[in-house]
Amino acid sequence: MAASTDLLVSHLQTYLDTPIEHARALPMEMYTSPDLFDLEMDAIFRQDWMCVGRIDQVEKPGDYFTLTLAGEPLVVVRGQDGSLRCLSAVCRHRYMTVVEGAGNTQRFMCPYHRWVYEIDGSLRSALHMDKPANADGSDCRLPEFGVETWLGFIFVTLNPSPKPFAPQMTGADAIMAPYELENWKLAVAYDDVWEGNWKLGIETGLEGYHIEGLHAATFAGMMTSRGCHFQAADELWNSFRLDINFNHPLGEPVKKYAEKMGGDELTSAPTLSLYPSVNISCSQGNANWLTFLPLEPGKSRAIGGFLVPPEEYERLQGEPEELALTRDMIDEINREDASAMIDLQRNAHSRYAEPGQLNVRETALLYFYRYLADRLGKLQKQRAG
Ligand code: FES
Ligand SMILES: [Fe+2]
Repeated sequence: MAASTDLLVSHLQTYLDTPIEHARALPMEMYTSPDLFDLEMDAIFRQDWMCVGRIDQVEKPGDYFTLTLAGEPLVVVRGQDGSLRCLSAVCRHRYMTVVEGAGNTQRFMCPYHRWVYEIDGSLRSALHMDKPANADGSDCRLPEFGVETWLGFIFVTLNPSPKPFAPQMTGADAIMAPYELENWKLAVAYDDVWEGNWKLGIETGLEGYHIEGLHAATFAGMMTSRGCHFQAADELWNSFRLDINFNHPLGEPVKKYAEKMGGDELTSAPTLSLYPSVNISCSQGNANWLTFLPLEPGKSRAIGGFLVPPEEYERLQGEPEELALTRDMIDEINREDASAMIDLQRNAHSRYAEPGQLNVRETALLYFYRYLADRLGKLQKQRAG
């Protein structure tokens, strides 16, 4: 490991006992170092659970979508038996990607030499080969990885012996319970590549301090940086709340949901961040979800979308113009956040930039940095001896 990576990981350890009043931004090299990026893939993205989709994206047998996690091409697919699986999408013949994009299929056929796989991962046939492996294909199959669902989100992990995800989320369960997010539907799906380090993506979603800065043209006023309060943190997540102004045009339609929920929901709503790179920004009647999948130190795939309660989903299906406007709004909000990520990535090469003081409204960042310190520190220690 390069010395500079050692220094960066050591620096991260300082966040463990620094209070927010004295905490500063991460050093810029955290966003540009290829060695640190490699360490993050090993310590985090090949270990921890990642939120990669919603169950309504793979509702029927044969429904699938694909992604790349820490360089591994994966396909998430609903089997004929109804089970959800996460399989390697790399062909067992000579490494071609057997499936890309999303859709519904009976089988996967590798485009290179047309080997065919069942959607449970077993090999069905190999062209011009009587016995490519054995008759039932059981010793020649696409490797399978861990998959779990939580609140309607699909989580996968490359870790061969992961700690179950859901039991680690009890505190977040309590915060999210009033929403019944497990029943919500993906009204608008989002999928784009943002030119920035994955940490810049989750960092923007970890604070409401930037609302008037980036979102003046969209939802600033419905939520404000002044009304941003840190809520809670645990090993895998943290949350902050934003006061909601129900008199704002975007706040008005969600008021009826808040009134049904009562309690804290009468005045504010949570933004939940799941480590390593997921933000779920809620208001009482909708949520904007984003997951950042690292591609390169300065490039990430952002997937997610706009979730709404089931009755609102049904209503929107009959209102195509409103649905199109909603799609435009989500694109615009995400463009606003992406603009910061892209700009910060460029400035990470500045010779004169220095880490600045964080604001108390950025407390959730500090907990994220502690998570990084833990994961990267542990692997660094293991490798050292
Ligand atoms: S690489 Fe897939 S069939 Fe040859
Ligand atoms: Fe934002």
